Amino acid sequence: MEDTEKIAVEAREEAEKAESSRALYEIKMKFLGRTGKVTALLKGMRDIAAELRPAFGKKVNDLREKLEGIFGEIEARVKAKEMEKKLASEKIDVTEPGRHTAQGALHPITRTRDELIDVFAGMGFEIFEGPEIETEYYNFTALNTPADHPARDMQDTFYIGDGVLLRTQTSAGQIRLMEKKKPPIKMLSPGRVFRSDDDATHSPMFHQMEGLVVDKTITLCDLQGMLDEFARKMFSSSAKTRLRPSYFPFTEPSVEVDVSCTACGGKGCSLCKGTGWIEVLGAGMVNRHVLENCGVDPDEYTGFAFGMGIERIAMLKYGIRHIRSFFENDTRFLQQFKD
Ligand code: PHE
Repeated sequence: MEDTEKIAVEAREEAEKAESSRALYEIKMKFLGRTGKVTALLKGMRDIAAELRPAFGKKVNDLREKLEGIFGEIEARVKAKEMEKKLASEKIDVTEPGRHTAQGALHPITRTRDELIDVFAGMGFEIFEGPEIETEYYNFTALNTPADHPARDMQDTFYIGDGVLLRTQTSAGQIRLMEKKKPPIKMLSPGRVFRSDDDATHSPMFHQMEGLVVDKTITLCDLQGMLDEFARKMFSSSAKTRLRPSYFPFTEPSVEVDVSCTACGGKGCSLCKGTGWIEVLGAGMVNRHVLENCGVDPDEYTGFAFGMGIERIAMLKYGIRHIRSFFENDTRFLQQFKD
């Protein structure tokens, strides 16, 4: 018969060494589990003389209770330590500076487009968006620019199929809208256009903002008044505009529109090359052939149209020198357009 006192001492010694509640549990099972030492003692009762059994049983039971007490006490200690460790590792230092998430901003072209939309929406224009892949008919023919017309060479066109091209101008949208909607019309049409043209101020893809107004008594004066309002809202309250005669096949008369220089206000500087004026858009009275092509009676209705490059407006407004800055995605450039 093994000395139960010895077993208790052995159990305590082993239990004290346990570093985790999991390890402690395994030690406990070595003594009190189904195949543990104490259970083995109880099983050995059969081999003991009958008169000794009650005393032996009591001893083993006392031992079991004692061990349970020992393991309970040590378990409480181990668990407390474990909790302490867990709390220490999960501690949050509220004085640490926060992590920054980089915040994006609207692209200057998007910004300028939205500003233009605001200006014209305030005058009652409605937005219309045409397709970027167009047919020759909408991009040229219906705009009074037939196949042999020299004006087709004014814009170097990307053809992508027979009679199919990347639109060179948002003017194509004029036709699409007038085919669908009868006057009065006040359309504003922003979008991407494509030309094989590439230098400091030209990019093969750029953005235009087209305008079209058609009604019964529209004159060039209406165009001029609207342009003045546009220049004051978009550039400065003292901005002025002037019209110069020009040529587009889809307008007659056609004009090129200048605004007083955005850098010097009109005194003359390097940006305006000493003239005080900067060209910002093309415009004119809608050519009667264009109206006819869309089923609008040119003897009843007249209209004006204008088209501007959004990049150009943005370059003037923000003093940007190189058109490529818009498309390089350099965040040092783009970040400057945050509110
Ligand atoms: N579509 C012309 C261009 O891209 C601009 C324009 C639009 C001129 C409307 C007159 C009227 O150059």
